[in-house]
Amino acid sequence: MYRLSEVPLLSAKQIDERLETLAAEIKPYDFDCVVSVLTGAFTFTADLCRRIATPKMRVAFIRAASYGASTESSGTLKVSGLDKIDIRGKKVLLIDDILDSGRTMFELTKKLADLGAKEFKTCVLLNKESRHEVDMHANFVGFNIENQFVVGYGLDYADDYRTLPDIWTLVEA
Ligand code: IMP
Ligand code: MG
Repeated sequence: MYRLSEVPLLSAKQIDERLETLAAEIKPYDFDCVVSVLTGAFTFTADLCRRIATPKMRVAFIRAASYGASTESSGTLKVSGLDKIDIRGKKVLLIDDILDSGRTMFELTKKLADLGAKEFKTCVLLNKESRHEVDMHANFVGFNIENQFVVGYGLDYADDYRTLPDIWTLVEA
């Protein structure tokens, strides 16, 4: 059994303030298209994109799932929606919620490169540097965090907690 930490790891206000500076870092790149990974990145993507606020930047969603009801990745990545996105010749920003082992982003960047993007960068809200198992570094990182399982602000545990506005650590009850 798990419960939430006593206080949030990152409050909605802290997230808000960081998104402001992160959007300012990203905006000058003038990306043609954002490709966001459902479901975990939906809140982050919406909040970030409306701060980048470039009229012609498109937003597309793909789905990647490697977790069931567990805090450890199952290791097999299921990706869908790639057939519906058109990024050939475009400047693309791939957005995910979190870099843990790094496998999801690593696999997705390979798949998106195959689709012929002209230029390609990656962005994650959270990075767990100590958990990386593959050589994968995001170009834009919201926050670096320690090795802990976090939920809220789009991130889930077995599909719960996504709608919480703050980010919490999940601890054993
Ligand atoms: P990776 O492939 O191990 O880097 O895992 C990336 C995916 O696992 C993310 O897109 C998340 O959906 C999920 N994930 C990893 N760590 C956490 C966490 O602490 N909370 C919620 N989801 C996580
Ligand atoms: Mg995810």
